[in-house]
Amino acid sequence: MRDKTTIGLAMLGNGFIARTHNNAFKTIPYMFWPNDFEIDMVSVCDLTDEGARQAKERYGYRKAYSDFKTMLADPEVTLFDNCGPDPMHYEPVMEAIKHGKHVICEKPLAMSAAQSKKMLDAAQAAGVKHATMFNYRFFPAVTLAKTLIEKGALGQINHFRGSYTQPYGAGLDIPYEDIWYNNTGRTDGVGQGIGCHVIDLSRFLMGEVKAVAGRSKTYVDTRIDKQGKKRCMDCEEGMLAVADFSTGATGIYEALETAAGRRNYFVWEILGSDGSMEWNLENPNFLRVYLKNTTVQEVTGFTEISVTQQGANHPYSDVWWPSGHNIGWEHGHINAIAHFLSCIASGEQVGPSGATFFDGYRAEVVLEAIKESSVSDKRIFI
Ligand SMILES: NC(=O)c1ccc[n+]([C@@H]2O[C@H](COP(=O)([O-])OP(=O)(O)OC[C@H]3O[C@@H](n4cnc5c(N)ncnc54)[C@H](O)[C@@H]3O)[C@@H](O)[C@H]2O)c1
Repeated sequence: MRDKTTIGLAMLGNGFIARTHNNAFKTIPYMFWPNDFEIDMVSVCDLTDEGARQAKERYGYRKAYSDFKTMLADPEVTLFDNCGPDPMHYEPVMEAIKHGKHVICEKPLAMSAAQSKKMLDAAQAAGVKHATMFNYRFFPAVTLAKTLIEKGALGQINHFRGSYTQPYGAGLDIPYEDIWYNNTGRTDGVGQGIGCHVIDLSRFLMGEVKAVAGRSKTYVDTRIDKQGKKRCMDCEEGMLAVADFSTGATGIYEALETAAGRRNYFVWEILGSDGSMEWNLENPNFLRVYLKNTTVQEVTGFTEISVTQQGANHPYSDVWWPSGHNIGWEHGHINAIAHFLSCIASGEQVGPSGATFFDGYRAEVVLEAIKESSVSDKRIFI
């Protein structure tokens, strides 16, 4: 075995997704075994000294900061993982690249296509590894879907339909401040919040997007804030689009925050001449597959595959639990970060299986074209 590469980790953030990433960094060294890297939990930065101190104690970092610039100047740091809110992606990532650090950045890569292009260009010029955290690529059932497409099992692929719906803005009485996707500093609406996942999985499975005709919608124009004041909503609550892929296939995108009863309902289907597939994040271990060419005439129609079968070439089945012992949401992040760490250690490319800053940038381009199309009522070529 090669000597182990020591990866000196610095993380920004101590929120929900930082917990997911820390869980991954703790778990990978013994679950992805043997490996050729070791992780040194060097430092963490949060908005306040107290938040940083808590994160240091909770996850076992050696240093804590409330200023990311000081943290990133440290030569012990070789990998920066940005788990901050969307508007805090650009500046710290550019700072990390300036210091020659490898970078993982949560989605959306930035607040605009222009910002993300600068991040991509800077990372490429510096020769550092870069990843946008499009974790859903790394769910075993999604990875298997990609393999089936590459094997030509579906024949000519005609159409993609992807829909991501959540309930966080469904109630008309939800206070203005509690609308997380509102344009109050955390993100820029539902497209940036969850629509980018639909776009990335469509590009991952179908190929590049060539054109979109979009609709960007606010369903609840005003809400009452916690002081009882009526406030205008300034955010996208629905992102809808018709897409054309460079292969000639078509696509439909939906992302909505106003879906009562939904939880984290991300579903997609792909329809081809010889087969079709569908997947649902709320039942993530299963890929539903229809293949025209069946060896048993009576057994036709969609088959539900538990993508956990050891010895059946099912992605990650040798890493996790025995067949049928399902894995959960956080494992997408663990698998994605394990892939990135092994790329740092081996020097191999992050893409095309992993999402790089190029993929983060392309998602922004598509999102902006959908909004532009919604305003101009024209189909936009990209
Ligand atoms: N890939 C996914 O499935 C997924 C899921 C949820 C969230 N996310 C993304 O993860 C990111 C974080 O989301 P979250 O839900 O963890 O948010 P959060 O609000 O729970 O956490 C954000 C953290 O960043 C810290 N922070 C804010 N400003 C800072 C600054 N200037 N310096 C240092 N720290 C600062 C906050 O104190 C907080 O600890 C967002 O970009 C979001 O879009 C991705």
